[in-house]
Amino acid sequence: MAIINRKFFRNYIMVIMLLGLTTLVFHCKNGTKESEYFNPQVLATHGNGEHFVGSKTCMECHRDIYNAHLNTAHFNSGAIADSSNIKGSFKEGTNILDLNAVEFQMLKNGEYFYQHTKIKNRSTEIPPSKFDIVIGSGVRGQSYLTWDNDELYQLQASYYTPTDSWVNSPGYPTYYDEPRPIRDACLKCHITFAKSVEPSPQGNRFDKSQMIYGIDCERCHGPSAKHVVFHRENPEALEAKFTLKIEGLNRQQRLDLCAQCHSGPRSIVLKGNSFSYFPGEDLNQYSKNVDNSNPDQKLDVHGNQYGLLTSSECFKQSATMDCSTCHDPHRKERGNTDYFNSKCISCHTEGETVCSNTVMDKHIKANSCISCHMPTTPSQAMMVQLDRDSLETSFNIRTHLIAIYNKDMWRD
Ligand code: HEC
Ligand code: HEC
Ligand code: HEC
Ligand code: HEC
Ligand code: HEC
Ligand code: HEC
Ligand code: HEC
Repeated sequence: MAIINRKFFRNYIMVIMLLGLTTLVFHCKNGTKESEYFNPQVLATHGNGEHFVGSKTCMECHRDIYNAHLNTAHFNSGAIADSSNIKGSFKEGTNILDLNAVEFQMLKNGEYFYQHTKIKNRSTEIPPSKFDIVIGSGVRGQSYLTWDNDELYQLQASYYTPTDSWVNSPGYPTYYDEPRPIRDACLKCHITFAKSVEPSPQGNRFDKSQMIYGIDCERCHGPSAKHVVFHRENPEALEAKFTLKIEGLNRQQRLDLCAQCHSGPRSIVLKGNSFSYFPGEDLNQYSKNVDNSNPDQKLDVHGNQYGLLTSSECFKQSATMDCSTCHDPHRKERGNTDYFNSKCISCHTEGETVCSNTVMDKHIKANSCISCHMPTTPSQAMMVQLDRDSLETSFNIRTHLIAIYNKDMWRD
């Protein structure tokens, strides 16, 4: 009796399980879950027709890279403003930027943040501007953008990390100025993709629904919808399809990938728009810097690591050096002295040229090659005014002109 019962019970369970399985399979094959998995949501479409799908879709197959990338300055360089990413203070007493003829007060209202403008000795009412987009991960500072319908403007108040205070945005006068329209200039280097809704490159109107914030995977690897769909449909395929093999690119192509944003403003657009260049292509066909034809004109340290590195002996006298020789683009490495030293030593080993300096400075971490050969240097291009009484202060940026410097230039 007990045996029959148990047998019956077992069969019963099996039938239930089979039924369950069939419904599950049926559901997956025809239901929304499956169609979403094999048709990931398109976030934006590049000018060449390829679709962006965002880094969340990369996570399931590239988990380590995805997790490491979340902590990089790149990923955090441009974002929708919220309490987690605005570094400036909204607390009474530290929420003011006081300039000569104008005062800005930063106030929080509910979950939103605003810049209130008070022009001194005038009663003109200026409506508050909302903090909509954060530009800059905050290593040295941040600027903020605001939408007026689909038009984008920069706020006059910026944040400066070294003093943990509000400052006048670089280039703004010390009186109240009309909000500065943001054309693609900041966006092209600080986010992955934006679509202008005006035919002219001078416009500051964008399609809000096609903005991809942060410098994400697809800025360097290209829009990857086809790659994702292929590998989801072919989980057994071990070799990458529909993505650029960076290892297979030549040195100039690899450098161009980073030079898009690290070789000066490149404000002259020769072809398409600021987002038309596709990794692997020849960057110089798309844009170039203004040629001031002055041989004494020094390259500025801000945003021109490409120009400086390619002027260095290390680069000129080695066949393979590119940005990835010292940087893993997926990881945050700032401050990791041992890691960077090991990169220098990988070429400058004993037997080859080693450091011939015998004088060590007690202020310099004795083993940090870069404090003497790539010292931080004040930028002439990126300067801010701290308050109404101060002169402009430069951002200090690590030079990529690797060379022998005088002792007075050595700086961690
Ligand atoms: C369903 C799995 C899957 C998803 C999702 C996926 N990939 Fe891949 N990807 C692979 C496989 C498999 C390879 C080949 C093995 C490897 O290199 O890890 C690969 C390789 C790559 C490579 C190296 C190409 C090479 O050979 O040099 C890049 C770059 C890449 N993927 C980018 C992305 C990006 C960006 C995303 C998200 C937009 C993404 N992948 C999403 C499966 C996937
Ligand atoms: C879309 C433009 C863009 C591209 C492409 C790009 N970068 Fe950057 N990079 C930036 C910006 C903007 C910052 C400053 C980020 C911040 O702090 O807000 C930055 C910061 C960095 C930093 C400093 C990171 C830190 O921790 O402060 C390094 C190193 C770097 N980039 C290397 C590279 C390399 C190597 C490549 C090519 C593989 C590359 N970048 C490609 C725009 C770009
Ligand atoms: C040609 C590319 C490029 C353009 C255009 C550009 N930036 Fe940057 N920006 C960079 C790079 C690269 C850095 C990283 C530091 C460096 O090399 O100077 C940076 C750094 C910054 C920082 C400091 C970020 C941090 O975390 O410390 C801020 C703030 C910033 N940029 C704001 C802006 C604004 C606002 C605009 C538009 C008016 C703009 N940038 C236009 C490339 C660019
Ligand atoms: C700043 C540009 C940049 C960004 C952003 C970026 N990559 Fe890469 N990626 C590279 C470069 C350059 C290489 C080649 C590295 C080398 O040659 O050492 C690479 C290599 C790869 C590879 C193959 C080699 C390996 O390490 O497995 C995969 C896979 C990959 N990236 C996936 C991703 C994913 C996923 C993301 C986003 C989470 C991402 N990448 C973001 C520039 C970038
Ligand atoms: C890919 C190999 C490579 C790497 C990596 C490299 N160098 Fe070099 N470096 C060279 C070569 C080649 C030369 C020129 C010949 C020589 O002086 O040995 C050179 C030259 C130099 C010089 C002399 C420059 C001059 O103007 O006379 C200094 C200083 C130097 N490197 C420091 C460094 C430091 C510091 C690092 C790490 C941040 C570094 N190098 C990383 C290959 C490299
Ligand atoms: C010889 C090694 C080496 C090479 C090659 C190299 N870098 Fe760097 N880079 C460094 C070191 C070292 C730092 C300082 C890191 C720190 O502060 O912890 C740095 C810092 C940076 C920063 C941050 C600068 C700042 O002051 O905030 C950027 C941006 C950057 N590199 C971009 C690039 C780009 C783009 C390339 C290729 C054109 C490149 N690097 C090639 C060694 C190198
Ligand atoms: C305290 C400053 C300082 C530090 C730290 C330092 N160097 Fe130097 N290095 C110098 C000076 C100064 C010279 C030029 C010495 C001379 O001409 O007598 C030099 C020369 C060099 C040269 C050129 C050698 C030649 O004779 O052409 C190389 C290569 C070099 N250093 C690499 C490195 C590396 C790699 C490290 C880190 C392991 C390092 N340096 C750390 C100050 C420094």
